[in-house]
Amino acid sequence: MNVVIKADPKAVTEFACEMVRERLAHDRYRVLGLPTGGTPVLLYQALIASYQRGEVDFAEVITFNLDEYLGLEPTHPQSYRRFMEENLFSHVNIRPENIHFLSGLPDDIDEHCADYERKIVEAGGINLQILGLGRDGHIGFNEPTSSLRSRTRDKTLTKATIEDNRRYFAREEDVPRWALTMGVGTIMDAHEILLLATGRNKADAMKAMVEGPMTAMCPGSVLQVHPRVTVVCDEAAAAKLDHDAYYRWMEENDYRMQGFLDEQRRRVESN
Ligand code: PGA
Repeated sequence: MNVVIKADPKAVTEFACEMVRERLAHDRYRVLGLPTGGTPVLLYQALIASYQRGEVDFAEVITFNLDEYLGLEPTHPQSYRRFMEENLFSHVNIRPENIHFLSGLPDDIDEHCADYERKIVEAGGINLQILGLGRDGHIGFNEPTSSLRSRTRDKTLTKATIEDNRRYFAREEDVPRWALTMGVGTIMDAHEILLLATGRNKADAMKAMVEGPMTAMCPGSVLQVHPRVTVVCDEAAAAKLDHDAYYRWMEENDYRMQGFLDEQRRRVESN
């Protein structure tokens, strides 16, 4: 796990935007897994600005969103489908047929979820999965106790998640209690993962995810066994990490490695 600590959400956004831009410039990266929530909004704004400057092109990009509330139609103001339309899709040149979403009103949940999994495979798998982190350690809507091998399915939201999402709804009873979500195993199949976490209220979840034991009680902790994960967070979200000095040291030194190796090769050759 590569943990990158930045000063504030703006710096987190710049780092994440640069990474997405760089990956999309690469031929092999065109399938993105996308999150909703407060954290990725800044990233989407930065990607839109980047697109407007001609730095990133979504014409060939295929997207799969992580999750959707059960019971909400795609045009519902609080649906994640609508969130993505307003915060990203309607502002860039992505093709509507390349956008994939779980339905909030499926006829048959199991069949619909299996079909979503099939579509991910048909697209060649997710190249870069972007994630947020729930206060309770969830990724997607994989709440604590989610099987670490779970596939796309329905999930009952925790009270903590319902409270966190309450701000988007008029009344608490309007917040859906269930969602469809890519499973932990589905997320783990992505070639590469970029997780964003900002704010003090994520500090406990960050500590559990990065430095705690791998456990279904903190589904994000499974990322410890994924070979290509970058976690980018701000100082507030990093506040409870014990090994933060090492993460900073690693970032300071990483880019020096190639130069050092070249130098040492030259030294050995000249001897
Ligand atoms: P947030 O949600 O970005 O709104 O904090 C994160 C998540 O639940 O994944």
